[in-house]
Amino acid sequence: YSLKPYNTFGIDVKAKFFARFQTVEELQELLKLPEVWQEEKLILGGGSNILFTKDFNGLVLLNSIKGMQVLEQDDEFAYVKAGGGEAWHDLVLFALKEQLAGLENLSLIPGTVGAAPLQNIGAYGVELKDVFHELEAIELASGEPYIFDHEACRFGYRDSIFKNEAKGKYVVTFVTFKLRKQHQVNTSYGAIQEVLRDMKVQEPTIQDVSVAVCAIRMSKLPDPKEIGNAGSFFKNPEIPILKFDLLKETYPAMPAYPVSELTVKVPAGWLIEQCGWKGKVIQNYGVHKNQALVLVNYGGAAGGDIRALAYEIIQSVKEKFGIELHPEVNIL
Ligand code: EPU
Repeated sequence: YSLKPYNTFGIDVKAKFFARFQTVEELQELLKLPEVWQEEKLILGGGSNILFTKDFNGLVLLNSIKGMQVLEQDDEFAYVKAGGGEAWHDLVLFALKEQLAGLENLSLIPGTVGAAPLQNIGAYGVELKDVFHELEAIELASGEPYIFDHEACRFGYRDSIFKNEAKGKYVVTFVTFKLRKQHQVNTSYGAIQEVLRDMKVQEPTIQDVSVAVCAIRMSKLPDPKEIGNAGSFFKNPEIPILKFDLLKETYPAMPAYPVSELTVKVPAGWLIEQCGWKGKVIQNYGVHKNQALVLVNYGGAAGGDIRALAYEIIQSVKEKFGIELHPEVNIL
């Protein structure tokens, strides 16, 4: 089974077995099959945060659980529940249609609802954890259902329990979000303000913010339907302020965002660009021309080549700045 249609990098690798489930019951039935027990399993959503470097010698399970609904609400909040197989942006559109605030800054992020909590997706001043209520998951080993509340998910920057202790152990079947009925838009991110100014919008609605975010993303990030990619390939590294102050003496233009009293986050895209990688093309893959944090497959590249490029980038950033980058994408 070719996995090419199921990863946004467009890498042509194969899986030994492939199955799709549309309901929790279907998934539980699958997990009861003895031939399924022994196989290594990989749960795929939109395949938008994964780089395959070799064939997968096991069973790929594609989460196609659908459905979106507004559950109970009070004066302030509405709870929206969505199937893990729903496309993330469809959920954003659903919330906008229902006049519920909180997801608009996360417009146009590729991938599915079920995958979103795993890496606590974030963009333009908002992270999933800011709107997350709870999720339902099935344990692969037992087929038993579990609920993870906010605390149990242990969200961090592009991180959760599902990238650590619980890695590869659960399928996220449903996610419930806590959205605001009174709208408070978050336009803290500079580029959003600029676009809204260009749009001549004074008091932005959640729809306006979504339009602005879509415009920014389309101008900077390659559309995976046109050029294979998995968004940011690296996390933005967190470094001690003392180290940043030292680096600033040599590189006065180095940007940074405060994280705590002792650390700052430096945009990896800036570091990579300074090392001369931005827009670099190597045969049929390379570094995106508008955003150095994004590695791209122009068609037919091997995952191993892109991984090798990633390690070359890590090495050069380390040599120049003494900062270690870490991949944000799952490399398999
Ligand atoms: N920059 C450069 N050159 C580049 C790219 C960035 O100099 O090629 C510098 C600029 O100074 C810019 C700063 O980096 O002001 C920040 O860039 P940007 O606002 O594009 O954000 P980012 O730090 O590169 C992060 C997320 C993105 C998210 C944006 C917007 C990570 C790893 N990435 O990127 O998330 O959309 O912020 O909030 O935190 C993703 O995870 O796949 C993703 C796209």
